[in-house]
Amino acid sequence: MLLILVLVDQPKIQFSDLYWQLSLACHNGKKAIRQAFADRFVFIGTPLAPSITMSSQNSGSKGAALVTGAAQGIGRAIALRLAADGFDVGVNDIASKAAQLDKVKQEIIAAGRRSAVFCADVSVDSEVKDMVAGVVAALGGLDVVSAVFALTAVHLPSAHWIRWSPMRGSAKRAASLLDVSPAEWDRTFEINVRGMFLCYQYAAKQMILQGRGGRIIGATSGAGKQGNAMMPDYCSSKFAVRGLTQSAACEFGKHKITVNAYAPGAVITPMTEQFAPLANMSQEDFFAMQAKMAATGVNPTTDDIATIVSFLASKEAGFITGQSHGTFL
Ligand SMILES: NC(=O)c1ccc[n+]([C@@H]2O[C@H](COP(=O)([O-])OP(=O)(O)OC[C@H]3O[C@@H](n4cnc5c(N)ncnc54)[C@H](O)[C@@H]3O)[C@@H](O)[C@H]2O)c1
Repeated sequence: MLLILVLVDQPKIQFSDLYWQLSLACHNGKKAIRQAFADRFVFIGTPLAPSITMSSQNSGSKGAALVTGAAQGIGRAIALRLAADGFDVGVNDIASKAAQLDKVKQEIIAAGRRSAVFCADVSVDSEVKDMVAGVVAALGGLDVVSAVFALTAVHLPSAHWIRWSPMRGSAKRAASLLDVSPAEWDRTFEINVRGMFLCYQYAAKQMILQGRGGRIIGATSGAGKQGNAMMPDYCSSKFAVRGLTQSAACEFGKHKITVNAYAPGAVITPMTEQFAPLANMSQEDFFAMQAKMAATGVNPTTDDIATIVSFLASKEAGFITGQSHGTFL
């Protein structure tokens, strides 16, 4: 038996740095030591990740999951579904969504699972690093990561292109490739691509360290399968997520880690519900117009996406990797 106690009493020492250094040392050592470390690591000290708040008890867990962008919409549905499936679930979103996130945490606890809140911006390296270390300390490991966040744009009839920025909390007209500013382009890629890359990277490091495989599930889009006018940054970023997902799948398969993504058309969420009034359309007309673009002619619900993630996270889906699933071909 190996027991490592880490006492952190100097404010300048980050728990996550200690964690990752010790982890790396163990990773470079024998597999047995690495496994024992991952199983037995105990943290005692100052708070870990930004805004971590712990919950209760529980046994009989299927494992530990982390869902980013979980305060609302698709992320919230995925977090609740994974809890119903038997996972303890860490939930993340940006700090301004802390109250909503806490409600999701309470719902997970009410479902009989453990939960912890991690407010962090996934585009910031140190915050993702702290968050993953915090999940391990709070929930005892990391088996499933579902990365959901995005700066999102939506396909509307010509001249009604709108994009939604959760960071700004506002919607605005989507821009032509001729008009997108380098700053807008960079911010979309910071969140949608760098954020996804950081989540994949730190999740995979932890899963490799644990040596028991894992599931990484990202968010791409129908816009990541087919280019669209007027949202070049969003489309390009979602194509990039598919490239990242395939590359990660090729690399991590030997560790029994599968890497997949979901790629739907329009899903009714608090975000997409903002678009109809902005386009001077009823919700009904707006979503009917979106459904015409899907191969099935139907818009998926947040529960449909949670079902995809639930299956991809299951033991039975261990043979599926590198895929992006949805309503677009
Ligand atoms: N809703 C759709 O129609 C649709 C269609 C295709 C793909 N998607 C993809 O699914 C994902 C979720 O979509 P949604 O409709 O639920 O969106 P949403 O805007 O309702 O939820 C996204 C969440 O991500 C959070 N977030 C944003 N930036 C973040 C950051 N830097 N760090 C941490 N959290 C951050 C937001 O605060 C928000 O709570 C997105 O990646 C989106 O591109 C959505």
